[in-house]
Amino acid sequence: MKILVLNGPNLNMLGIREPAVYGKESYAALVAYIKAAAAEADAEIEVFQSNHEGVLVDRIQDALGKHDAIVINPAAYTHTSVAIADALAAVALPVVEVHLSDITKREAFRRHSFVSPLAKKTYMGEGFLGYRRAIRYLALGEE
Ligand code: DQA
Repeated sequence: MKILVLNGPNLNMLGIREPAVYGKESYAALVAYIKAAAAEADAEIEVFQSNHEGVLVDRIQDALGKHDAIVINPAAYTHTSVAIADALAAVALPVVEVHLSDITKREAFRRHSFVSPLAKKTYMGEGFLGYRRAIRYLALGEE
């Protein structure tokens, strides 16, 4: 199972960015955590972060034929990007959506996700663990 993990804008600022919401650990720590979770689940992993919507669309399109599934934290684009949702629909790979925070318990503008209707699962409000659960769901069928 080859999984592409995509992280959207400002996630590169983890540790610095609103630590009360997103935690004190850095983006590098998240990448290391994701790689360890993938190794444990015997999955091949590629992790990519971008602050740019079109770059994320390009990576989703490029996944076709290269990856079996996508784990995505679209960050702020969750709530705005028809383009990312369209790209996910276009490649039609299994998608799992992850959010570090619980977007249903924050500002009203975060409650809608364009990605959720396309996702087989959404894990939110569990910090780094959400990525591990997403990988294990895809690779091992664990809920
Ligand atoms: C986020 C939640 C989004 O609302 C926010 O814009 C982010 C991160 C999360 O992981 O909790 O950047 O996707």
